[in-house]
Amino acid sequence: MNPQALNAEIGALPPNWCNENIVTSSVMEAVSFVTPVLEGFFIRTVAEGMSQQQDATLAQRCQEFIQEESNHSRAHKKFNNVLLAYLGKSPRGLALVSALLDGARRHLSMSKRLGLAAALEHLAAVMSKLYVHQQDSLMFASAYAEALFDMHAREELGHRSVVFDLWQTNETSGRFNRFLTISMVLLAGAAYVGIAVPWILYQKTGKRFAKTVILLGSFVIKNLVSTLAQTPMVELFSFTRGDFHPALLIDDSKVNRAQ
Ligand SMILES: [Fe+2]
Ligand SMILES: [Fe+2]
Repeated sequence: MNPQALNAEIGALPPNWCNENIVTSSVMEAVSFVTPVLEGFFIRTVAEGMSQQQDATLAQRCQEFIQEESNHSRAHKKFNNVLLAYLGKSPRGLALVSALLDGARRHLSMSKRLGLAAALEHLAAVMSKLYVHQQDSLMFASAYAEALFDMHAREELGHRSVVFDLWQTNETSGRFNRFLTISMVLLAGAAYVGIAVPWILYQKTGKRFAKTVILLGSFVIKNLVSTLAQTPMVELFSFTRGDFHPALLIDDSKVNRAQ
């Protein structure tokens, strides 16, 4: 789709399109850019994993998972094309995530790749739960973005058990390896956000270094305590528990509200 047609569908985005805050908007943009990269890894891993699958119900759930993740990727790529119009290129840090996932694809066994995908899907589900609980306090200057993030969070919660259940039919890893996997996922995620968000902000401020530092610094000072208090570390590390199952994360009746 050409840029004019995209703008007509999505609308022009102000730099502070989320919550009237340029830093919050930059965080959402970093998330949107990394989404198709992660989903490409999930789709490939699940497609390969399910080819050895005998359970017809699980194979059907995997098929639906692939369909949903493909739709998410398409919708985010469309949104990212609008972001690219003012950012010029994809954020720094994205190539690092791609390289790490490529390395996992080339060097890890099927069951380890499924374990990594299950850990990433767990992170997506925990973040989606947080998002669904807090979205009433978010304001969007873009109806497309609001609908996109809402749909994505709810569908992530809806299919949160699929990769885990597929992984369980393979050789799974012990608690220590799960701890290592989720820790690496969180470290890589923090590194990506730590690189991409300042870069996006720097582009949005017209490459003004001092303004970028001041905006970031005041955002961190204002939000650090509440962000740390709200970070669901116990839920994130519940992945390492022996009795862990993604279905226990949230009551499904709370996921699908009337729109
Ligand atoms: Fe997704
Ligand atoms: Fe997902």
